[in-house]
Amino acid sequence: MIQLIRGFKDILPGEVEVWQRIEKTAASLFEDFGFREIRVPILEHTELFSRSIGKDTDIVEKEMYTFEDRKGDLVTLRPEATASIVRAYIQHRLYAVDPVQKFYTIGPMFRRERPQKGRYRQFYQINAEVLGVDSPLIDAELIFMLVEFFKRLSVPDTSVHLNTLGCPKCRPAFQKELHKFLSKVKTQLCADCERRKVKNPLRVLDCKVLACREAVADAPAMIDYLCDGCKGHFETVQKSLKKLYIPFEIDKRLVRGLDYYTRTTFEIQTGLLGAQSAVAGGGRYDRLIEELEGPAQPAIGFAIGFDRLAEIVAANNVSSTPGIDLFIATIGEQAKTAALEWSCGIAVSGIKNDMDFSDKGLKGQMKKADRLGARYVLILGDKEIEEGIAVLRNMTTKEQSPVPVDGIVEKLKLILTAS
Ligand code: HAM
Repeated sequence: MIQLIRGFKDILPGEVEVWQRIEKTAASLFEDFGFREIRVPILEHTELFSRSIGKDTDIVEKEMYTFEDRKGDLVTLRPEATASIVRAYIQHRLYAVDPVQKFYTIGPMFRRERPQKGRYRQFYQINAEVLGVDSPLIDAELIFMLVEFFKRLSVPDTSVHLNTLGCPKCRPAFQKELHKFLSKVKTQLCADCERRKVKNPLRVLDCKVLACREAVADAPAMIDYLCDGCKGHFETVQKSLKKLYIPFEIDKRLVRGLDYYTRTTFEIQTGLLGAQSAVAGGGRYDRLIEELEGPAQPAIGFAIGFDRLAEIVAANNVSSTPGIDLFIATIGEQAKTAALEWSCGIAVSGIKNDMDFSDKGLKGQMKKADRLGARYVLILGDKEIEEGIAVLRNMTTKEQSPVPVDGIVEKLKLILTAS
């Protein structure tokens, strides 16, 4: 039997309702904050990601699904959405009318990581990005919106982790100090960090290996090297968050896994997920638009790990299977033909209904209606058709009442929408 590819998954009916609820919550909340949906392709030129995420990051070095297409062009299944959104902003000159643009997008991403609980090779993200705004107030607003989103979904046990990564003006001095420090502790670092130490020293601070964590416990932190501009920015973000009553923790080790970040970075972490504790992450990328040959416009955004969030939301819900309004149980061919017409008629009016297309007996059909969570069952045999009267059973009260077959679709609509 052909099975799923490792690290990929199906989202089955029963789970999908949770996903739909999350999607609706995101769309309605983000739109209230002035965001508009954008949809970008799943496949892009590899260069887009290597230039934005950074060629020395884990994602670009070893996790991308990259291949040559039939013409020999190097293409990649997107590992994230920010780079594509920036590309679209530049390519379609979306900045020309107004440089300030707020976008959100929901969809699958691909990273060939080692699969484990909460970590997949095809996973989904909900992204929100604000392009063209420099003010630290937007950083606070974005974090506020993110926290509100988790509140609306009743996600317990979340905390906001906040850091700053400075800018090209102040980061080099910090990197120099960090490099010096790492040279001193190099014998204690894992093989990956030994390599990162030279190519991407910031990432050593984020290594999950215990020995590395211990080795960098006293490493210099960016927050102590900020230039006046970055310092002022970070202070205003913190002040604004306090004004909005958003609690947060400063996390000096929060460096994130992508190279484009500047200034504010943040993660929402939860104790509910075990090792994969980040349920959302983001930050500023003030240089990225310009680096991808667009106008010099700042930007900030975040991505929520949809799969991880869905696991939490599903665990908090006893049942996510919504019932249907009506099941039509039929006995005999004539009844089945009539039922088909009625079923289609009420479905197009937005009333959820189903019927049986096999030749199950009445008992079997009633069982199926129960399983589907039907509020009502319409019982119809050839005898009822002849007499012109069907029977409607309320599955909660178990009461049964006759419904004339003549004009039944309109009557059912009335009964089912009123109750
Ligand atoms: P990221 O931290 O790589 O950031 O991913 C954001 C979130 O996606 C993570 O916190 C996690 O919840 C989820 N995630 C990442 N990898 C996986 C995986 N393999 N399986 C399941 N969930 C995963 C970004 O992608 C940035 N583009 C975020 C951003 C937007 N920054 C600015 N704008």
